[in-house]
Amino acid sequence: AEALSARARSLDDLAELQTGYDGLQLKRGARNFVFADGNPAARVMIVGEAPGEEEDAQGKPFVGRAGQLLDQMLRAIGMGRDLPDSTRAVYIANVLKWRPPGNRRPNADEISLSVPFLRRQVELADPEIVVLMGNTPCAAALGREGITRLRGTWTQAFGRPALPMTHPAYLLRNPVAKREAWADLLSLADRLKL
Ligand code: URA
Repeated sequence: AEALSARARSLDDLAELQTGYDGLQLKRGARNFVFADGNPAARVMIVGEAPGEEEDAQGKPFVGRAGQLLDQMLRAIGMGRDLPDSTRAVYIANVLKWRPPGNRRPNADEISLSVPFLRRQVELADPEIVVLMGNTPCAAALGREGITRLRGTWTQAFGRPALPMTHPAYLLRNPVAKREAWADLLSLADRLKL
């Protein structure tokens, strides 16, 4: 994974190299390779966990219920994945590019084999800020989990400022946590001077 991802000179290159990567069993059970969505020139890159059923079907990250909530959250601070203006646009990807069977959580091997590709994706997109949505991206980028403690506190990931946030799928199950997510969104908007 390290050697292969290092060869990529552009995001398109990287997508092509990673689709051809055979180190993960997950690939065999997935319908689609889900690389990214949004604007690659965006100042903010959002990193989620892995494709779910809807993402696997469509080949795009965050297009199911959690994705709709994510879009609403971004819209609340004037941002969105389809905006041409890179200041307000986002680029969205997951740690894993293939859906884990039955949406189970990715295991440690799957995460560590995905990190070199994710790191290269961040380098090539070169966002100013990375948002880590939930435990899996925190494990991948920070080597730590515990999103309830990590969320809302700025840290560094892949050599740039990073904000861990609660995953929107969690917010769907626990609407009271939306209050904290709102505070984190405001912190992001503040950092971007929106
Ligand atoms: N959850 C994620 O973490 N990523 C997606 O793409 C969809 C749901």
